[in-house]
Amino acid sequence: MAVLVTGGAGYIGSHTVAELLAKNEEVVIVDNLEQGHREAVLGGKLYVGDIRDKDFLDTVFRENAIDAVIHFAANSLVGESMQNPAKYYHNNVYGTLCLLEKMNEHGVNKIVFSSTAAAYGEPENIPILETDRTLPTNAYGETKLAMENMMKWFDAAHGIKYVSLRYFNAAGAHESGRIGEDHDPETHLVPIILQVALGQRPHISVFGEDYATPDGTCIRDYIHVSDLADAHILAVKKLLRGGESRIYNLGNGIGFSVKEVIEIARQVTGHPIPAVVEARRAGDPAVLVASSERTREELGWRPKRDRLERIIASAWAWHQSRPTGYEA
Ligand code: UFG
Repeated sequence: MAVLVTGGAGYIGSHTVAELLAKNEEVVIVDNLEQGHREAVLGGKLYVGDIRDKDFLDTVFRENAIDAVIHFAANSLVGESMQNPAKYYHNNVYGTLCLLEKMNEHGVNKIVFSSTAAAYGEPENIPILETDRTLPTNAYGETKLAMENMMKWFDAAHGIKYVSLRYFNAAGAHESGRIGEDHDPETHLVPIILQVALGQRPHISVFGEDYATPDGTCIRDYIHVSDLADAHILAVKKLLRGGESRIYNLGNGIGFSVKEVIEIARQVTGHPIPAVVEARRAGDPAVLVASSERTREELGWRPKRDRLERIIASAWAWHQSRPTGYEA
C-alpha cells in the first residue's frame, strides 16, 4: 500500500513513518518543517510544503498513487491555542479542509486522523470511553473535534472513510535511538524532566499540587509513541479492508501523577531531579485516563511498551544520545 503521511517529520508522524518503513510499505511524507525535522524522516519520499497550499497537494496526489492518508499535520499545544486560536483554526481546521477537498478530488477515500484526549474536556467518567461527552476546555481540543466532525460530513457526502485516534499522553522514543521527541519550545512533562536530568534545567516545575488526586498532582495516561504508531497502521489496514468510520482512544488505561512520573524518571536516570511546586497551568483537567477496550477489540491493538519505566527509559536513551535534539 502507498500511504501519505502529513506531518510525517514530526514527533508521532516520524515514528509512524518508521513503523511503515519497517513493514516495507510505500510512504510519501508531506511536512512544512515548521515543527518537523528533515532528519526525523528515515525514508520514503518527502515533500516539503504546507497542506493549505492546494496546488502543492495537487502535485503530491498527481505524482503518487495514494491508497490512504495518515493525517498528523497540525499544531498541538494547549497553552498556545489559548493565546492564538486563529493559528489553530487556520492550520488545523482549514488545513484539514484543504486536505479532504484534495483527497476527494483525487479519489482518495481513506484517512486515519490524529485526534486527542483534549476533545473530551473535563471527563465525566474515568476511564474515558469513546462514547463520552466531548466538551473541549481549550481551543486546541476544539479544533481537533471540528476536524473529526468535518470528516464525518465528508464521509456522509463523499464516502471518505476515517478512523480518528484520540491519543492520551504520547511519550518515549524509537528503540533504534535514531528518532525521538524534539519540540521547540518543549512543554511536555517527560522531556522537560529529562532535560533536568541532563543538567539543562535546574528543576522541574510541578504545575499544581491541589488537584483532587491522591498526591494532589494531575494524573495522565502515558503511551509509548511506537505503540501509537502501531495503532495507525492497524487503522489503515482496517479501512483498506473496507472498515467503516470509527473513533478510538489510545492509552494504556493506567494513570500516573506528575509526582509519580518524576519519581520513575529519578529511578531510570539516577539523577535526583529536583521538583518545585508552582501554580496550576490553565486548562489542565485533573485526571485523563483512557479506556482503549474498543481499540483492542476492533483493531486488535496491543501496546507492547506499556510500562512507564520502559517509556521513560527509551526517551532517556534518546535525550542522552541527542541532548540538543536534531541538527538545526
Ligand atoms: N506538567 C508539569 N510541569 C511541566 C510540564 C507539565 O507539572 O513542566 C504537568 C501538566 O500540568 C500536566 C502533565 O504534566 O498535568 C502533563 O502535561 P503535558 O504538557 O506533558 O501533557 P498534557 O496532558 O497537557 O497534553 C498532552 C498533549 C495534548 C493532549 C493531551 C491529552 O500535549 O496534545 O496530552 O491528554 F491533548
